[in-house]
Amino acid sequence: MPAFAAGAANEQAPAAGGSGPVSLPPERVPRLPRAPPWECLPRDHIGRGVDHFCLTGGQAVNLCIPKMRDTWNGERHPALDASRVVAHHRVTPPSAHEAAMTRTVYLNGDYIPETEAKVSIFDRGFVMGDAIYEVTAVLDGKLIDFPGHMARLKRSLGEFSIRNPLDDDAYLAAHRKLLELNGITDGMVYLQISRGNGGDRDFVFPPEDTPPTVVMFTWNKPGMADNPLTQTGIRVITLPDIRWKRRDIKSVMLAYPSMAKMQAKAAGRDDAWLVEDGFVTEGTSNNAYIVANGTIVTRALSHDILHGITRAAVLRFADEAQMKVEERNFTVAEAQAADEAFITSSSMFVMPVVQIDDAEIGTGKPGPVAARLREIYLEESRKSAI
Ligand code: PDD
Repeated sequence: MPAFAAGAANEQAPAAGGSGPVSLPPERVPRLPRAPPWECLPRDHIGRGVDHFCLTGGQAVNLCIPKMRDTWNGERHPALDASRVVAHHRVTPPSAHEAAMTRTVYLNGDYIPETEAKVSIFDRGFVMGDAIYEVTAVLDGKLIDFPGHMARLKRSLGEFSIRNPLDDDAYLAAHRKLLELNGITDGMVYLQISRGNGGDRDFVFPPEDTPPTVVMFTWNKPGMADNPLTQTGIRVITLPDIRWKRRDIKSVMLAYPSMAKMQAKAAGRDDAWLVEDGFVTEGTSNNAYIVANGTIVTRALSHDILHGITRAAVLRFADEAQMKVEERNFTVAEAQAADEAFITSSSMFVMPVVQIDDAEIGTGKPGPVAARLREIYLEESRKSAI
């Protein structure tokens, strides 16, 4: 059966969001499949914790979040490009055959539909969390900070004593091929390498010649660089950092960060900053900064935090722009009294933080330092993207 039936229901224009209906010129109205795999959420869901897509240009009237996948039969959901559509293009419901096709993913050298990608239940990534990963942003079809991600990947593999199964050129080629196969212009590439299938579950590592499992997949985030959250900033709660003591290794053991994010959501906030011995370590999936007395302050690199690739670039750009940077611990109270706060990560770039627990930061609005750093970061990293 096709994933959704042909008919009027598939051809509705986006429902209006925000304060009231917003009309798109008829030639710009994409037809929206209303049934799976696309889930259309009203605009007021934007930024409220959901992994959202920003439709730029002020034309977007509805936010469509791919429920199961980002692409359909190799094409992006037209609604995700609504603001950029110059001419209306017809979207026909896929045939049953097309409906069976999915995003292409990478598994151990093969490029296959996601529904065909199978990993053993004995894989150590699955039973032991014995795997490391990288997430690389894509803008204009190019990989952002790719050499940095590769360097950290190799470091994480080394710390875990997992054999590096590919060379840098092969990783790059695989990233590029997946982008091409899935038609990604703006989005992300996820890469995970586990210690492989060690046979029966055993705390002892399997023999060294056990092939690691390499998995890669993409997801689309059209308009990612124009995230509307940058206009409002995000609000965070603070929670104890009870993660293990090697947070510098980008391992897939993400249960606690995930739980912390859920706690933030339950509190109506966007994220959580983690705190150890009274000092902020980092966000659940990002590095944390404050701006006080004209100085950008962020925790120094150690085993306590992930060595963010975006962090490294942002601090370098800040330095080049003659901004003052201090790498040191800061407390929650210091952060709450700061002029600005922000986070960095590959998916959020530079994102202002306007509230920490009950305290508004500075004016309660995104500040100029974060805005400037975001601008420089996007400009420079686009230039060096490959
Ligand atoms: N998270 N700190 C933690 C704990 C992270 O998980 C991340 C990245 C960062 C920022 O690192 P980078 O700038 O290299 O993305 C800091 C990624 C995006 C994730 O898990 O999805």
